[in-house]
Amino acid sequence: MSRAKAYSVSSATSQFAATTIARRDPTENDVEIEILFCGVCHSDLHMARNEWSSFFATVYPCVPGHEIVGRVTKVGSAVSKFKAGDLAAVGCLVDSDGTCPSCQAGLEQFCPNQVLTYGFPDKHLGGVTYGGYSESVVVDQRFVVRVPSSLNLAAAAPLLCAGITTYSPMRHWGVTKGKKVGIVGLGGLGHMGVKFAHALGAHTVVFTTSPSKVEDALRLGADEVVLSRDANQMQKHAWSFDFILDAVSADHDINAFIQLLSRDGNMTLVGAPEKPLSLVSFGLLVGRRSVSGSPIGGIRETQEMLDFCGEHNITSDVEVIAIQQIDEAYERLLRQDVKYRFSIDMASLKG
Ligand SMILES: NC(=O)c1ccc[n+]([C@@H]2O[C@H](COP(=O)([O-])OP(=O)(O)OC[C@H]3O[C@@H](n4cnc5c(N)ncnc54)[C@H](OP(=O)(O)O)[C@@H]3O)[C@@H](O)[C@H]2O)c1
Ligand SMILES: [Zn+2]
Ligand SMILES: [Zn+2]
Repeated sequence: MSRAKAYSVSSATSQFAATTIARRDPTENDVEIEILFCGVCHSDLHMARNEWSSFFATVYPCVPGHEIVGRVTKVGSAVSKFKAGDLAAVGCLVDSDGTCPSCQAGLEQFCPNQVLTYGFPDKHLGGVTYGGYSESVVVDQRFVVRVPSSLNLAAAAPLLCAGITTYSPMRHWGVTKGKKVGIVGLGGLGHMGVKFAHALGAHTVVFTTSPSKVEDALRLGADEVVLSRDANQMQKHAWSFDFILDAVSADHDINAFIQLLSRDGNMTLVGAPEKPLSLVSFGLLVGRRSVSGSPIGGIRETQEMLDFCGEHNITSDVEVIAIQQIDEAYERLLRQDVKYRFSIDMASLKG
């Protein structure tokens, strides 16, 4: 076992503080990674502040972070996929049973015995798993993926959650050329959704509550931008969307978007607000429309997404911060003041 520097919160209302955490010695199937960059997901904030307590309560101390990019420092004797010195990445999952029907299908995100990167029981060391706001991590090689060497590492880190969470439902629901696709909420997830929808050839429409983001949305690849609080602008798109991806982190009216779906259109929720959303059944039944959800993605698809990003030169638009700025970064996330993802330079943890 070794000790690693990290940043943790000790309660739902406390600020982050420097600490050290235990990391296991690599077992034969493990990869030890020195973390270079870690993205800041709104889920980190929900978890740090125990906003998802109705589903699973946060265990403190909590070390968030599941958009991890780094360099391999050591591998176990049975590891064939990686060697010391390689670039490697880890997302939201660090383990699963490997035997259930979902795992067999490469859909580990649905495994009933999955282990998330932070806040889940750690079967090696006891306690819970600790995430990427730290200097190193040790992960089973099945859950470590490759980052294309052409990508900027700070900007590639957010692909591990914001990237796969938006890519996966778009592939599932057949986003392609000729489809009209809406992205609701231009934050970390939303801006990746725009890049993927555009790269997949869809007519891409961004819905934002922030007039200041209109120009950016067009630059990121949107064909049109709608201010979602303007009922006239919304009405012009009634019955026209094949697919809408909702990546909003707070309470909002989803019914206003459902009525923009075409017959048999689908709206997928990836945002996970603290409080339940309300749904008007009429909006669904008049158009045989559906609303569904989607969690992250499996490991195979995460690698596919990273390779797609390598081919199309897609990364996140990031503002690189030091770990010491993490509390301020959370406050800015809540003010919708990030363009469009914070990426922590882990060198700051050593200083
Ligand atoms: N399904 C999954 O597996 C998964 C994975 C990762 C994250 N998530 C969840 O997805 C959500 C988004 O995460 P993120 O990291 O992209 O967050 P983020 O960067 O904070 O972006 C959220 C965006 O939602 C919009 N928004 C925020 N408050 C709003 C309000 N009161 N009304 C309407 N719109 C509002 C804003 O966009 P505009 O300024 O454009 O309006 C904001 O930029 C979070 O709930 C997160 O936990 C889910
Ligand atoms: Zn995330
Ligand atoms: Zn499984």
